[in-house]
Amino acid sequence: MAALLFISPQDASGVWPEALARAMPAIEVRVWPEAGDRADIEYAVVWKPPADSLRALPNLRAIFSLGAGVDYLFTNTELPEDVPLVRLIDPALTEGMTEYVLYHVLHYHRYMCEYQAQQRQRVWRELPQVRPGDRTIGIMGLGVIGGDAAAKLALLGFSVAGWSRSAKRLPQVRSFFGCDQLDAFLGRSEILACVLPLTPETEGILNKDTLAALPRGACVISAGRGGHMIEEDLLAALDSGHIAGATLDVFHSEPLPVEHPFWTHPKITVTPHVASITNPFTASTQVADNIRRIQQGEALIGVVDRQRRY
Ligand code: NAP
Ligand code: GLV
Repeated sequence: MAALLFISPQDASGVWPEALARAMPAIEVRVWPEAGDRADIEYAVVWKPPADSLRALPNLRAIFSLGAGVDYLFTNTELPEDVPLVRLIDPALTEGMTEYVLYHVLHYHRYMCEYQAQQRQRVWRELPQVRPGDRTIGIMGLGVIGGDAAAKLALLGFSVAGWSRSAKRLPQVRSFFGCDQLDAFLGRSEILACVLPLTPETEGILNKDTLAALPRGACVISAGRGGHMIEEDLLAALDSGHIAGATLDVFHSEPLPVEHPFWTHPKITVTPHVASITNPFTASTQVADNIRRIQQGEALIGVVDRQRRY
């Protein structure tokens, strides 16, 4: 019987082994560090695995990430070189991310920060109501998640653009791509949501120059990875008034240290990396489908390009 090794030392739910076993009854699920005979292990399902957990698995056929992001795998010094890395593509994960982006876009679009500030001062004052077609939204990263969020924002009538490495064709979504078009994309983004993967190319992409390229008064939603944001540049842009508000789900250091200035900044909303939480049951179904594909010699869904790192 083929075996699968589940490696997620930080998982406290205890649900994963059951979810994986339910989705693939013909595979024995083992939970690291109880790997048993390592020669039996054909599949690894991982989130932040310790380096040595992936060592000496001679029959490993694929490594599946429990998340869409795989940046953490490239810090693993013992990552096997010749085994496919597969990121998670799960409609439930995408749904959560889209909800998060839409929720915060609507919050900024309808001036909820300003109304909350007015409420604290008992001020009854109408602010303008901008039609969605007159509100420009920019989505950085127009892949599975960004593409879905952009499409749904466009359905609500917003003026949506996305930025990606390659050109995209999405109904009612303007496509910008590559470094040459980044400034033009940013310059028309009154509300910017970043759902890029973290790679050597995107690290630090939310910095003083890119923030300055946004229109004055823009709001930023950062839900890709904390490594995208140069934190002191964001604080400076907020304090100067160039950026009006920021919603941050991801941080350089997680959990966000208690003394970090983001916690108490009046223009920042912090959430604890929960924009979308992987659902063990739906995700296990996606892993099971890919394992079936391997067994039947079909192409895998979500294979990571090791050069691009996403
Ligand atoms: P994806 O389908 O691989 O999409 C990535 C997008 O980013 C693609 O459009 C890609 O362009 C673009 N991109 C990558 N590098 C680029 C570069 N250097 N310049 C311009 N565009 C670039 O990934 P996904 O499934 O949408 O996930 C995106 C990220 O969301 C994950 O990596 C993860 O970090 C984050 N995430 C966060 C949470 C959370 O709870 N906070 C949950 C899930 C995911 P091309 O299409 O042209 O290749
Ligand atoms: C969560 O952060 C993910 O990458 O799925």
